Amino acid sequence: MTNLSVNLNKIALLRNSRNIGIPSVTNAAKIAVEAGANGITVHPRPDERHIKPKDVYELAQMLTVEFNIEGNPFHGNFMDMVCEVKPTQCTLVPDAPDVFTSNSGWNLAENRHQLIPIIEKLKSFDIRISLFMDADSNQIPLAKEIGADRIELYTEPYATAFRMGEVEAVFQKYIQAAKIAQDNDLGVNAGHDLNLQNLEKFCSIPNILEVSIGHALIAESLEMGLHNTVKAYLKILSSTS
Ligand code: PXP
Repeated sequence: MTNLSVNLNKIALLRNSRNIGIPSVTNAAKIAVEAGANGITVHPRPDERHIKPKDVYELAQMLTVEFNIEGNPFHGNFMDMVCEVKPTQCTLVPDAPDVFTSNSGWNLAENRHQLIPIIEKLKSFDIRISLFMDADSNQIPLAKEIGADRIELYTEPYATAFRMGEVEAVFQKYIQAAKIAQDNDLGVNAGHDLNLQNLEKFCSIPNILEVSIGHALIAESLEMGLHNTVKAYLKILSSTS
């Protein structure tokens, strides 16, 4: 079964719009975990517009499930924080400091040499390393060469094609990318714009180990409640390989 890691950025974004601490990121994590979520994901950004360093440390103290911290290792104090917190997994993302949200995977043909010492350092703290990647079959074997354990497929192009009702050609690229990763002994995670409508098809790709889902899940939870929404995602994932 594919694991669900609930991304709590949007809870923090709402919390940060006032100074009275609600909604609480740690309470949301508790609800998600009690509903059965296998992990919690956060993506602290240098401008602290959603998750703040304090959230990262508080979650690290309380979590009994996998903790996944995403971010650009070349920005701010990201590396120091991750090495101190030692999450289960660190997903390295090449996003510029001012982007709205992550908008592409690594170009490992260009950046792999810079990433090698970063990956070595994180692995010396026993942190599992995932690299955020486009469904580009040429780039994926390089992730293995530089020491990553997993890739996270950037699913926005899949989600957009799904919404437009013309998903098949794009979906085939993801099937191929996942197979190439698995043939190279890389685990495959996925994330970005996955939702209750498009998740089942995506997870028909064999052996997707984890999906991290934030925006849609938190939006849906406004109508369905966080507990019920997590359960609805888990129901879809319970029939995956
Ligand atoms: N993976 C990465 C690397 C991300 O940056 C994000 C968004 O923070 C996600 C997954 C989750 O995307 P969404 O919020 O659209 O579910």
